[in-house]
Amino acid sequence: MNNFNRIAPVYDSLSRIVFGRRLQRAQALFLDQIPSVDASGTGASVLVLGGGTGEILTAIFARQPGCHVLFLEPSARMVSQATRRVLRLTGPVGITFRVGDEKTLRSDEQFDTIITPFVLDLFTNETLQTHFIPCLQKTLKPNGIWLATDFVNTPVWWQRVLLWAMIRFFRLTAGIETQQLVDWQQTLRNAGLTRHAQQHTVWGMVSAEVWSH
Ligand SMILES: C[S@@+](CC[C@H](N)C(=O)[O-])C[C@H]1O[C@@H](n2cnc3c(N)ncnc32)[C@H](O)[C@@H]1O
Repeated sequence: MNNFNRIAPVYDSLSRIVFGRRLQRAQALFLDQIPSVDASGTGASVLVLGGGTGEILTAIFARQPGCHVLFLEPSARMVSQATRRVLRLTGPVGITFRVGDEKTLRSDEQFDTIITPFVLDLFTNETLQTHFIPCLQKTLKPNGIWLATDFVNTPVWWQRVLLWAMIRFFRLTAGIETQQLVDWQQTLRNAGLTRHAQQHTVWGMVSAEVWSH
């Protein structure tokens, strides 16, 4: 089990040094696809899984102020930073913070939108296939959408070096499981999901995508 507590205090600064604000912009690309209401006419339910320090929350509520967000993140220090960030938002926002991972999702928790920003690339193909993706599929409503944003393999030599270095860094500091970037898009496809939209960004190293059942 990985643990991002140790690097939580410096995570955003490191990300800015290497990528500027590109990773934040990438994960916000398809947020306007979050529905304004669910089938019963109340605010859409959104799961943000692995949202880190919660930078994405500001972007979500700017687009869909009426939605209800479950912010589920295993690093307690990340959650505490995200909580502080939300206190700075103006106006009431519907959000529940929970320390935990996909295994802690209850069967009665169902979402109109699931967001996994830079999370799928932490795992091996086997974990994604046998555990992580099936777990999330169970909580996605029949008409729900899954917004996945993650690094992808690239032929450009310096990007390959950077990806290799990032995986080594996160293996050392946070104990992530994978040793190489997996083809998470193929794994989502193999699980029976369908991609509706895609945009390459961050010099082609990142793909932001919209998937559904
Ligand atoms: C690379 S960071 C990305 C953080 C944030 N989404 C961002 O883009 O800045 C990966 C995040 O996923 C979280 N994480 C790790 N394993 C997880 C799991 N099984 N379920 C949900 N989140 C997980 C980590 O604690 C960490 O905050």
